[in-house]
Amino acid sequence: MRLRGLVYAAAVILLILLVWRISDQHSHIHERARDIQHIFSVHEISWVPTTTPAASPKCKLSKVCPIDHFAFQITSGAADVVGPKICFEGKIVMSGVINNVGHGLNIVVVNGENGTVEKCAYLNMIIGKPEDILAYLKDIKPGMIVLAASFHDVAKMLTDEMREIFDALGSTMIKSIKHRDSWVFAGGAGTNEKSPFEKVAVSDPKSNIYEGWPDVAKIGGCFPRKI
Ligand SMILES: *[C@@H]1O[C@H](CO)[C@@H](O)[C@H](O)[C@H]1NC(C)=O
Repeated sequence: MRLRGLVYAAAVILLILLVWRISDQHSHIHERARDIQHIFSVHEISWVPTTTPAASPKCKLSKVCPIDHFAFQITSGAADVVGPKICFEGKIVMSGVINNVGHGLNIVVVNGENGTVEKCAYLNMIIGKPEDILAYLKDIKPGMIVLAASFHDVAKMLTDEMREIFDALGSTMIKSIKHRDSWVFAGGAGTNEKSPFEKVAVSDPKSNIYEGWPDVAKIGGCFPRKI
């Protein structure tokens, strides 16, 4: 009876040991399964396409323009010395450095649908031919975006008819522009909407910062694409 009891006890201990080992192995298996899962999920993460790096703002704006807008920045000339600068969609279209600016009205005409620069010019408002200037302005087709900047003086040859053309492009200030005012403007042809993109630095002997001229006028922003 004693021996039987001993054998029984030994068998029970053996069984306990066996169960303990199996369960130990079991937890190992679980760990390995977790490891495998972990490796797999790491692979999965590395397959997620990396998000495209944030685009940087164009024309030195502080923010990126929405997809259906064009970035622009316009700075008028400073006195009769430093030329104006017109940037559109990250490209400087007119500037003193490019050497395509001049005294008078500097103007860029852009296709409002696809942003192609159709033409740019400076219309000499001091010694130019008024009929040529008027012809250039009359030729701006509906659907175009117009970017304009003054240099030196824009008022000398500005006739009422020319002012009307800019009024129709969305300008609210062109009618009051006078001798040596700094003026920048962006508007759309054929919309008859007033443009929010316009600024004047009025020439006033009391406040002019350059000898005989006011400070530069500058505007930038996102111009809505015309679809
Ligand atoms: C933009 O549109 C104009 C007029 O339809 C066309 O002449 C010009 O080639 C277009 N530009 C681009 C880049 O598609």
